[in-house]
Amino acid sequence: MHRREVLRTAALAGVAGLFGSRGGAAVEAEIELRPESPGATIDPHVYGHFIEHLGGVIYDGIWVGRDSKIANIQGLRRSFVDDMKRIGAPNLRWPGGCFADGYHWRTGIGPAARRTRTYNYWEAQMPKGTNATETNEFGTHEFMALCRLVGAEPYLAANVGSATPQEFYDWVGYCNAPAGSLSLADERAANGDREPFNVRFWGVGNESWGCGGNMKPEEYATEYRKFIAQVPAYTKPFLVAVGPRGHSLDMDMGWTTGFFEGLRGARGRIPDGYALHYYTDFRPTPVKAETVANAAEWYAVLHKGALMDQVIERHWEAMGKVDREHRSKFVIDEWGNWYNASSRPLEPRYLLSQWMTLRDALHAAMTFDIFHRHAEKIAMANIAQTINCLHSLFLAQGDRYVRTPVYHVFEMYRGHMSGRVVPMTVKAESMQVPLLEGTGRMASVAGSASLKEGVLTVSLTNPGDAAMPVRLRFDGAKKPAEARASTLTHESRGAANTFESPEEVRPAALKADVSAGAVSLLLPKQSATVITVRMA
Ligand code: AHR
Repeated sequence: MHRREVLRTAALAGVAGLFGSRGGAAVEAEIELRPESPGATIDPHVYGHFIEHLGGVIYDGIWVGRDSKIANIQGLRRSFVDDMKRIGAPNLRWPGGCFADGYHWRTGIGPAARRTRTYNYWEAQMPKGTNATETNEFGTHEFMALCRLVGAEPYLAANVGSATPQEFYDWVGYCNAPAGSLSLADERAANGDREPFNVRFWGVGNESWGCGGNMKPEEYATEYRKFIAQVPAYTKPFLVAVGPRGHSLDMDMGWTTGFFEGLRGARGRIPDGYALHYYTDFRPTPVKAETVANAAEWYAVLHKGALMDQVIERHWEAMGKVDREHRSKFVIDEWGNWYNASSRPLEPRYLLSQWMTLRDALHAAMTFDIFHRHAEKIAMANIAQTINCLHSLFLAQGDRYVRTPVYHVFEMYRGHMSGRVVPMTVKAESMQVPLLEGTGRMASVAGSASLKEGVLTVSLTNPGDAAMPVRLRFDGAKKPAEARASTLTHESRGAANTFESPEEVRPAALKADVSAGAVSLLLPKQSATVITVRMA
């Protein structure tokens, strides 16, 4: 479909006439920035990760074993560790996911040869002839070693569905009790780590409305209150309660209302974090990960991804009815694209592994921009899942390893971490786009901006099929002195990086002109662009 076939409507009354036509040098989008009025800080934990004992995420993806021929550090895939360091991965959520509510942490400690084999929740979905039996080779100590090597904070999901509060407290004690204090600390030392892990982030269950216990919201509220009653406080815990399945049709508003109502009167028991799961879920449709067959498939995914904005708004409002001061912040600890059972980039036993294309990179970029615009509401977010799974940054099988286009978005957007959000107004026509059924409207250019140490980072996405001339204008006395830009795009919407062609989709420098106090550039079609501006 050509751009001109896309119906366009004026997004902002009265501004349409400001803009020239597409194709010439005329500006089609004006971005007004107010760097002298920065708002909330973007928590670096928004760029967090999620890894689960599922298919090839842990085994082979991350853990290759100490005796492996594959380059490794203490059994951990070296290229993965290096790349996670490179993007400054701030945290890792583990061990699940659905796996977490069947996981008993004691099975994963002690001498490797003595660890038992246990059942894995994902067994039922494994292809014929394969199994998901958990060997427990990768347990608490191996996970902590990974976090240390990467420089990431651990975020542990405790078992609420099939364990007791005592089991949870013992895991906290095992991880955090000072050396020589509890017997649990002695046991940790005997297993190789004398010093405590000082784990701050604890998830109290996972999807307790589903695989984590099939509970009703009021039942989970009762469990939550019980589970947090005696959490050892060696390291002040940041407790995360299970939140809704935001990608269901009704956004699962009943869960949020029911859970927070269930906390009424429980003084001081409001969770620090409230988990929100939002998958751009295309499982019931013919949309596959590895092909972007037409414009409708391209826009449908991006359009649905952008609903994250409303999901955040609506649940935030519902939470505020009980948590009036908004002490609880979102921990969006599972987000990403989930396609119809596609052809797998890896063998079928790498359950849920998907191809990642340019479309998924753009989706990630748009999602980060939404997170930034809601920075005051979000304490953390974790892409699902980092390697060999749904919205992955990496694919690995044996000695083959590749960064997907999604990796590059994490790398390009790093400048936003810990920046203060800069108010931004986009003046551009919105566009009406084809979807799987009918049409819908979406922004023709969207983005966010943040300021850190005098440097402004502006990220912009252009999902359309024509280049978009944009001009950044700056309110206030400070004006841009210098600007650099890089962009991620490809001629083909379905372009991917493969083991054979690992550099097919990668960022390239983009020209950014600074003149008369403004920055002008031409956003390529179907692109994500980051502009770094040094203010005078
Ligand atoms: O990320 C895959 C699965 O999706 C997780 O295990 C579960 O929490 C969610 O339903």
